[in-house]
Amino acid sequence: MERKETVSAEGLVKYFGSEPVLRNVSFSVEAGTICGIIGRNGSGKSVLFKCLTGLYIPDSGKVRIDRDSLGALIEEPGFLLHYPGLRNLVYLMEIGGKVRRDAAEEAIRLVGLEPGDRRPVRKYSMGMRQRLGIAQAIMEDPDILILDEPMNGLDNEGVRDMRELFISLKNKGKTLLIASHSREDIEILCDRVYEMDKGRIALVR
Ligand SMILES: Nc1ncnc2c1ncn2[C@@H]1O[C@H](COP(=O)(O)OP(=O)(O)OP(=O)(O)O)[C@@H](O)[C@H]1O
Ligand SMILES: [Mg+2]
Repeated sequence: MERKETVSAEGLVKYFGSEPVLRNVSFSVEAGTICGIIGRNGSGKSVLFKCLTGLYIPDSGKVRIDRDSLGALIEEPGFLLHYPGLRNLVYLMEIGGKVRRDAAEEAIRLVGLEPGDRRPVRKYSMGMRQRLGIAQAIMEDPDILILDEPMNGLDNEGVRDMRELFISLKNKGKTLLIASHSREDIEILCDRVYEMDKGRIALVR
């Protein structure tokens, strides 16, 4: 049976000024798998993710991805700090055009937060904000998830919970692309691993 590739990039090049930050990046992610991207600070992981999600337009090359069924967490999630978590997610759903309050509540529960928490996000800890960012990425039940260092700021229990969550999403047939600096997360989670180095990408396993 042919294996479907849900996310792919072909020959991506991205410049900032005269500096190439992505140099001919080609790779693909098989549907229903978890793909990891590792690489040093500044190697181009986040820029690649921004090109995949449409936040940046590459100077050349091609991205193939179904943006209608995409959830993403790229660097720090931007929330309205004076609103509670649930209100933030509902607000983001409103921008997307279809509000499902129950789905927002469920996503908040799945990441270990409390939907009824009335505190504004400004009073959340870093790890709580990160959890809310993951909730935002999964709340519309997308087929593809692009997560840039999703474990940032999480305590051990948080890391364990999110690993379980990501594996359960994969088992439901979702496709995940995760950038991480944690060797352990990559070992445990990923079916395939790429490494970025100064804007180039190579398959590690
Ligand atoms: N908006 C921008 N303008 C100019 N240069 C940028 C911009 N965004 C990223 N860069 C540069 O692109 C390069 C790659 O950055 P990127 O954020 O993709 O690294 P990264 O692999 O995600 O690193 P980290 O592990 O620290 O998250 C860096 O040299 C960075 O300075
Ligand atoms: Mg980054």
